[in-house]
Amino acid sequence: MEIIIAKDAEQAAAVVADRFEEVLRERGEDGAVLGLATGSSPVLTYRELIARHREQGLSFAHARAFLLDEYIGLSADHEQSYHRFIRDTFTGHVDMPDELVLSPDGEASDPRAEAVRYDASIGEAGGVDIQILGIGANGHIGFNEPSSSFGSRTRVKTLTEQTVRDNARFFSSSDEVPIHVLTQGLATIREARRIVLIATGAGKAQAVRDMAEGPVSAACPASILQMHPAVTVVVDEAAARDLTHADYYRFIQSQKDRLAS
Ligand code: GLP
Repeated sequence: MEIIIAKDAEQAAAVVADRFEEVLRERGEDGAVLGLATGSSPVLTYRELIARHREQGLSFAHARAFLLDEYIGLSADHEQSYHRFIRDTFTGHVDMPDELVLSPDGEASDPRAEAVRYDASIGEAGGVDIQILGIGANGHIGFNEPSSSFGSRTRVKTLTEQTVRDNARFFSSSDEVPIHVLTQGLATIREARRIVLIATGAGKAQAVRDMAEGPVSAACPASILQMHPAVTVVVDEAAARDLTHADYYRFIQSQKDRLAS
């Protein structure tokens, strides 16, 4: 795992945006397949990518995107549906074709069949070139809560009480937070060719440590990322607080910066 400790959330977002820009430029007219996440963690990255689109002409015209997850029972235009969130915060502000921003259908009459269909559609598009991830305070990625199988594909999941509480801040009350979701599985996420996980704030410090330095265990679903060959974890100082080897990660980064300059 490459672990980058940024001085603050803005710098972390700029590092993640650089990785996305690299892939967009590499894939060019072949069209990058972007894996997008919701939640507050990627919002500054999306803002930075929108700014690069407006000010530097960074284009998403050939790109397509797959979301990680969706609440079951919220309509696509519900303010808190992930379908709507990603358009409001990111893709609606760049030149990505709207019909190529895909997410599981939270209103499908047969959610299990929808999960299978969605999972297959990622493969049919050639797989994800770069996936951005946040992390839940309990170590979840997407909505893969603790005890999720490392072999899991896109499926229906039930949220933990903690996740419902954490996500209640986006709703008027916790009673309104759906408890069932459709989420890409850990095995699905793991197929992305590159993964960039962003975590900021002290509330994520324990999860970041468990993910990067703890045992690979279903108790911390994000720890599966230790098995992926191309993962970058970008954290701010607060989220890096509990990392045992923080000085080593800083040392590696300073060597890379020296070589690059
Ligand atoms: C949700 C999303 C995850 C996200 C997590 C953390 O549960 N399904 O994709 O990473 O919350 O959210 P936040 O970034 O707001 O802390």
